[in-house]
Amino acid sequence: MPDAVISARSLRKAYKVKGAPDFLAVDGLDFEVAPGESFGLLGPNGAGKSTTMKMIGAVSTRSGGDLSILGLDPDRHGPEIRSRLGVVPQQDNLDGELNCRENLFIYGRYFGLPARHCAEKADELLAFAQLEDKAASKVDALSGGMKRRLTIARGLVNDPRILLLDEPTTGLDPQARHVLWDRLFRLKERGTTLVLTTHYMDEAEQLCDRLVVVDKGRIMAEGTPASLIRDHSSREVLELRFGASNNAHAATQLQGIGDRIEVLPDRILIYAAGGEAALEAVTARGLQPITSLVRRSSLEDVFLRLTGRSLIE
Ligand SMILES: Nc1ncnc2c1ncn2[C@@H]1O[C@H](COP(=O)(O)OP(=O)(O)OP(=O)(O)O)[C@@H](O)[C@H]1O
Ligand SMILES: [Mg+2]
Repeated sequence: MPDAVISARSLRKAYKVKGAPDFLAVDGLDFEVAPGESFGLLGPNGAGKSTTMKMIGAVSTRSGGDLSILGLDPDRHGPEIRSRLGVVPQQDNLDGELNCRENLFIYGRYFGLPARHCAEKADELLAFAQLEDKAASKVDALSGGMKRRLTIARGLVNDPRILLLDEPTTGLDPQARHVLWDRLFRLKERGTTLVLTTHYMDEAEQLCDRLVVVDKGRIMAEGTPASLIRDHSSREVLELRFGASNNAHAATQLQGIGDRIEVLPDRILIYAAGGEAALEAVTARGLQPITSLVRRSSLEDVFLRLTGRSLIE
């Protein structure tokens, strides 16, 4: 990828631990992000997503490997990189004592932008975040979804070419998530490069052109959402519930149905090209599940296949 805006080679981050060997939170990541691309890091708690985002955002130094952001090395050009990125951290760090407009205005001033420009920008971004009627409200009085929208708006104050979003919609209700997705689509249409982390499969499928599945600081797989599903899962999944105490026993009687069987604490997953045909095979063996559901494979199934664990624990 010759024009990559972000390029990581063998990227590592070791945290010091008292009385123990260093802890490798990021253990040799290789990835590139093209201009205008929407790139995702999908992984469970502790996978190293935020640590990676902090290194990309030039607020945490790497312990090893190479990292280039807009052609610059964060070790040597931290301030310049930070001035050209927009950042939406996992934890909102808005100033609760200030109102919405002031939060945007003051953040723009941090970047050394002229006051008049910041005032115009603040109004433009309040409209973008659909927070015009909250312009004069203190941040402490906003709902979680509104705070998240304001944080995203604030990340755009300096017209960044790259926006880093660490779990942009965690904790939001479905409607608030859809509003945020819509805002992010618009940014993408305008050519902004998005790098986001998430542990929501549907978010990754909606927003990411390409993603890496990360676990324990390593990349398990890389591709478009569709190609990851095609390469690592079957077309359909049959979900069966026999009751928590009966699933393990039922599973022994399902061998040979579908391509692969996964026994989870609350249900059994049968991976098969045709879910309905698999269900017929189940009932033909005289088994009576309490509930059965046929669905398409998702990134959750990819994750389960690659790590042996469920993404949402
Ligand atoms: N400052 C730190 N000092 C020591 N260990 C840390 C530090 N920050 C993160 N870690 C450890 O590094 C690992 C990766 O953490 P990180 O926050 O990058 O994960 P994550 O993928 O963002 O997880 P989550 O989905 O929970 O946000 C974890 O085991 C965490 O405990
Ligand atoms: Mg995180």
